[in-house]
Amino acid sequence: MLAVTAQAALYRDPAVFEAERRGVFSRAWQFLGLEADLGQPGDYIAETLAGFPIVAVRGNGGELRAFHNVCRHRAGPLVGDAAGHCGGEFVCKYHGWRYALDGRLRSATAFGAAEGFDPRDYGLFPVKAEAWRGFVFVNLDLGAAPLMDTVAPLDALLGNRPQPSTVLRRSHPIGCNWKVYVENYLEGYHIDAVHPALAEEVDAARYAVRMEGAIAVHEVPATAGAAEGVWAWMYPNLAFNLYKGVVMVEHMRPLGAHRTQLDYVYLHEAGDPQIEAAIETSERLTREDVWICERVQENLDAGIYSAGVLSPRHENAVAWFQARNAALLAAG
Ligand code: FES
Ligand SMILES: [Fe+2]
Repeated sequence: MLAVTAQAALYRDPAVFEAERRGVFSRAWQFLGLEADLGQPGDYIAETLAGFPIVAVRGNGGELRAFHNVCRHRAGPLVGDAAGHCGGEFVCKYHGWRYALDGRLRSATAFGAAEGFDPRDYGLFPVKAEAWRGFVFVNLDLGAAPLMDTVAPLDALLGNRPQPSTVLRRSHPIGCNWKVYVENYLEGYHIDAVHPALAEEVDAARYAVRMEGAIAVHEVPATAGAAEGVWAWMYPNLAFNLYKGVVMVEHMRPLGAHRTQLDYVYLHEAGDPQIEAAIETSERLTREDVWICERVQENLDAGIYSAGVLSPRHENAVAWFQARNAALLAAG
């Protein structure tokens, strides 16, 4: 049967974005940052994931914990930056309530006497946190299955490949819905038209994307002389690319119905002379992808197109992604 795409309205409606925050992003393991930034008790990393400000912290016993970055008093933030050290407790940036690193409210600073106020009722809202290969993930669903259930196919794929530890970061704002960018990542069909230089290096006719659970693995047959790599993606919005000794984590963060932020973390060997060229190539490919995705978004917004069709040969992973989103949204 002919596979039909998701409806265009799903890519522009703020109400759909709100439903995805609850139905998709509140249930999935989401990338937060690097465990290397959580070396000591009190070290934290923070990020806003699909509109949920989250902070992860290294506890006093070395455990990894994460919370909504939301004070229980009047919703102030516990930390105001992306990474740092908070000492032995979080002190709210608004009125100074103090929370232990396990989330308990230690002191409602200078709150004064208030009948019926029990600090034990005002601990931080917890989220699940786990680390895998030095990457910190969080899940807002406290009943979520372990991270390994999702990443196992990726873990097997990466095997014992070395993982360098020198970090470079780049970010790009993109004027499109997050699903437009994800779907673009999930097929190699556009390579010939959008990435002419890349098209020289891959055999587009044999290019395929296979799904293993919630992981999409690109099978990229290199032409003679081109390097082999790994290109894989994990539902809903994270890609891992390994190429010429550089590990590239690509986080396609939804900011709103029409706004996405692409955050890259490049892990490389210190002094690797290839890193500049690798980043340059990645930035060029990103510019090409951003250009086409923003044009697609304009056309989805224009209102003339309501749905299209998907190639079974090239767009099976796009079909999987759209079906998964639809199922989660239907489940509420
Ligand atoms: S909002 Fe945190 S102390 Fe007031
Ligand atoms: Fe692309």
